[in-house]
Amino acid sequence: MAADTPGRDPGESQETLSNLLQENRKFPPPAELAANANVTAAAYEEAAKDRLGFWERAADRLTWAERWNTTLEWNPPFAKWFVGGKLNVAYNCVDRHVEAGNGDKVAYYWEGEPEGDSRTLTYADLKREVSKAANALEELGVRKGDRVAVYMPMIPELPITLLACARIGAIHSVVFGGFSATALSGRIQDADAKVVVTADGGFRRGAPSALKPTVDEALKECPNVTSVLVVRRTGEDVDFTDRDVWWHDLVDRQSDVHEPVPHDAEDPLYILYTSGTTGRPKGILHTTGGYLTQVAWTHDAVFDLKPETDIYWCTADIGWVTGHSYIVYGPLANGATSVIYEGTPDTPHKGRFWEVVQKYKVTILYTAPTAIRTFMKWGDDIPAKFDMSSLRILGSVGEPINPEAYVWYREHIGGNRCPVVDTWWQTETGGIMISPLPGVSAGKPGAAMRPLPGITADVVDDQARSVPNGGGGFLVVRDPWPSMLRTIWGDDQRYIDTYWSRFDGMYFPGDGAKRDEDGDLWLLGRVDDVMLVSGHNISTTEVESALVSHPKVAEAAVVGATDPVTGQAIVAFTILRGSAEESADIAAELRSHVAKTLGPIAKPRQILVVPELPKTRSGKIMRRLLRDVAENRSLGDVTTLTDDSVMNLIAGKLPSAK
Ligand code: WT7
Repeated sequence: MAADTPGRDPGESQETLSNLLQENRKFPPPAELAANANVTAAAYEEAAKDRLGFWERAADRLTWAERWNTTLEWNPPFAKWFVGGKLNVAYNCVDRHVEAGNGDKVAYYWEGEPEGDSRTLTYADLKREVSKAANALEELGVRKGDRVAVYMPMIPELPITLLACARIGAIHSVVFGGFSATALSGRIQDADAKVVVTADGGFRRGAPSALKPTVDEALKECPNVTSVLVVRRTGEDVDFTDRDVWWHDLVDRQSDVHEPVPHDAEDPLYILYTSGTTGRPKGILHTTGGYLTQVAWTHDAVFDLKPETDIYWCTADIGWVTGHSYIVYGPLANGATSVIYEGTPDTPHKGRFWEVVQKYKVTILYTAPTAIRTFMKWGDDIPAKFDMSSLRILGSVGEPINPEAYVWYREHIGGNRCPVVDTWWQTETGGIMISPLPGVSAGKPGAAMRPLPGITADVVDDQARSVPNGGGGFLVVRDPWPSMLRTIWGDDQRYIDTYWSRFDGMYFPGDGAKRDEDGDLWLLGRVDDVMLVSGHNISTTEVESALVSHPKVAEAAVVGATDPVTGQAIVAFTILRGSAEESADIAAELRSHVAKTLGPIAKPRQILVVPELPKTRSGKIMRRLLRDVAENRSLGDVTTLTDDSVMNLIAGKLPSAK
């Protein structure tokens, strides 16, 4: 990273780290879990001796129509896994379980947000529904390789749609239901999607929340979309045009038989957009055989899944990669029984999650630190009212988990008997990369511990030298892994520049990390300008562009400031246009403008109107200094500033909003 690149460098995180390292509690695995664990310490040695052989055995857990002939073809940085192999992802996730006599087994317990609104889908049900949806998409003209945009609430038709696409070989591109029309249309255009699957709306916070009007708005800019398939979920009135078709009109009348043709191991499975530091969002491309291999293996290993007895619940939205890999593909490939919950954790009361755990006797729970911190804020007495004795393993994902949150999770949710697995990965990695194994690792609160067997992650200094125990630096991955992104959709050069150019021959995820005296890894957050808000990557540039698109704003600089609940919160510094009056409600106006442009998740916590922004001589905004201000610290080095009196002006504008 260039010395003047705005952003956090690992050095700045040392302070946080030394706090983390005062944490020296360790929680060894429960003896019974260790004795019966799916994966033992031997897996690390096995994979170290023969990494490709290890992944071949993982791939053998799937059902292949044709076996591969080359395990890995590596033309850096372009990987092909299981070359020559053919398989159908939907067949692996659905049909084969039915053929094995498990058709009556529950695939999903679906819990709607309105109480009493629930559905149960067995693997046989899923096979019928996915087949009908695949036939329906084909009737709409969807063929192998076509892109299908998906903008849906958390209802069973969402995983059904993804599996129907996978069955045909169409490439799905899910856009999180909280994104705005502008964000949606940009993603539809970038992928050149032909069909959009959506719903009238979903239930959020006790009320219907519309989706279809956002699609209508987005499609004004998307002339290539030929059909919109709409699920009726809320029953609210929606506008309908000739392009629109109701799910119940089209899908319900289809045959429930659909032949799953085998696809190439490297055929695309999906695109999922993630925010970048610069420019438009990146369409992360995942393919078929390697992706399914790694998500299935990691789901089995990290959660010690016993498909006969476990009830697994991942609370993520399927609109994010966590939902793709660990609600849809991993669990279904493993024949698991999962819970899907549609709504928010505080509807109709703050104990809703624990009520769901109690109702379905959930044994494995996978959630995010931001949720855990919210539950801590709501109070210990809430989970205490529910019987959660079914739980045996707890997972965390999305950002570093603070030791306090880890220990609270272990105690108040896990009754001090369940291991906590802190899983590090990214949209780009497709599957879990660094995580404890619940039957092996003595977990440390706040540490993601070790790379999984078959993964060669390391921490290097800025000269790409591996740091010794006790050292900190940049996280890298040295060798290709099966579920890695293959490229950025339509932009190989950007793929090379973003991930493979910082360190020669290594994948650079953009995170800082530290290796402790035992050799265990601690993740320290992003080193670039992407903010991590409630576990979601949001780029400063995108928020700045949204602010600047408002007629009253001349310039904006956005930083992520540490926030006790959301991890980082967005703080924006704006310069108004000369003609604009600084009215009392300007901040509210700009916040809602950002929500409209990018989606509510990108809404700044704070917007400050300032007379100037700190810039380097080359004209780059020094976000590092703004972060100092936003986090109430004394200023770091100001020598590269064009004009250091600017900082006094800015600091004077800051209310004590900490
Ligand atoms: C970024 C990826 C992986 C699905 C959810 C987010 C951060 C994720 C952890 C963790 C520390 C973590 C990283 C990563 N992150 N999990 N266990 N410990 N940091 O996917 O939106 O692609 O974000 O989330 O900074 O790079 P994403």
